Amino acid sequence: MEIYYSTFITGFQEVVKDALKKKLKDVQIDLVLDGLIMYKSNETLRRILTLRFFNNTFWLLQFFDGKEIFSVRDLIEIFLQKGNLIGQFPSKIIKDRRSFRVIVSEENRLVSTDKKMLENLENFLGKTFKLKINRAKPDIEIWFLKRREGFCFVGMRLTKTPNYKKILRKGELRPELAHILCLLSEPKPQDVFLDPFAGSGAIPLERTVLPYRQIIANDKDPKMYKYLKERVDKLKRRITVTNYDALDLQVMGNDTIDKIVTDPPWGIYEQEKFDLPDFYIKMVKEFLRVIRRNGLMVVLTAQKELFEKTMKHFYGKLVLIEKHDILVSGKKAAVYKIKKT
Ligand SMILES: C[S@@+](CC[C@H](N)C(=O)[O-])C[C@H]1O[C@@H](n2cnc3c(N)ncnc32)[C@H](O)[C@@H]1O
Repeated sequence: MEIYYSTFITGFQEVVKDALKKKLKDVQIDLVLDGLIMYKSNETLRRILTLRFFNNTFWLLQFFDGKEIFSVRDLIEIFLQKGNLIGQFPSKIIKDRRSFRVIVSEENRLVSTDKKMLENLENFLGKTFKLKINRAKPDIEIWFLKRREGFCFVGMRLTKTPNYKKILRKGELRPELAHILCLLSEPKPQDVFLDPFAGSGAIPLERTVLPYRQIIANDKDPKMYKYLKERVDKLKRRITVTNYDALDLQVMGNDTIDKIVTDPPWGIYEQEKFDLPDFYIKMVKEFLRVIRRNGLMVVLTAQKELFEKTMKHFYGKLVLIEKHDILVSGKKAAVYKIKKT
């Protein structure tokens, strides 16, 4: 079996573990850390690379439990001394790639290394993989990663994360996060799915990659609505785009929606100030009206205290199933999975 490790949004260990077991039937999970999972599978590389809940995936070249490793310098020295790699030579990954660079990361920060040591390492890797060094624009990256708990990973990066700062609109969620939110709603082919605060549409667009009956993406802001409608048309996705106030979705009947997955206003980034406690009460009231009994709601917000108080207000009408504390662009937030009772 081939060995990989993948990184994901911290706080979602259990969700990612379950999703991985469902997606790769033969998977053997060796280690789960906060934001990183190491696993074996015989599935094709192509299939591994379709796992949308990961940030990045690496082919494992070496793993150390960190007992004798106190710094990335130790890691590189031990790697060079050992000189052997785990598993088969990953020629299928290298195929059309000609150049590489080394990335060294300690406790989630990129660090620089001693020049001589880096050259030795580059020579060794260049010979082993028959690749040329290109520190500026390589075809492939080889990562030396030392984690806070001591575990060390050497891996060849298989994925290329886009520059999200450039491609995402203001407030738009990263697709990996939108995907995990959709997974939390236990997607089914017969789902009628609603995102009442769709914004640029990260959540409804991500939901389209899994089977569904209907997806409704709503936003009150006429500019957001227009943008989203055009985006959905351009991408040719089967999504109903609407332009209503999510606190008063009169066009939607009672008990008509199976799943609501959404990222409502947090009362932090909006220009106009408004009464957030009152907004959240009206929002949950409307969700409970349109969603059917046992329907699931997945809500992402940084207003944890307020949202938890709001849920108490509806005591007996809903039940909290899971809460996941996460960071969104460095801001503490939480994801609540709630069922209508
Ligand atoms: C946090 S953003 C959602 C961002 C979205 N998840 C994305 O990836 O782009 C919240 C959205 O709610 C919309 N909004 C605010 N108040 C609303 C209301 N009463 N009804 C419907 N939409 C509303 C805003 O226009 C904004 O686009």
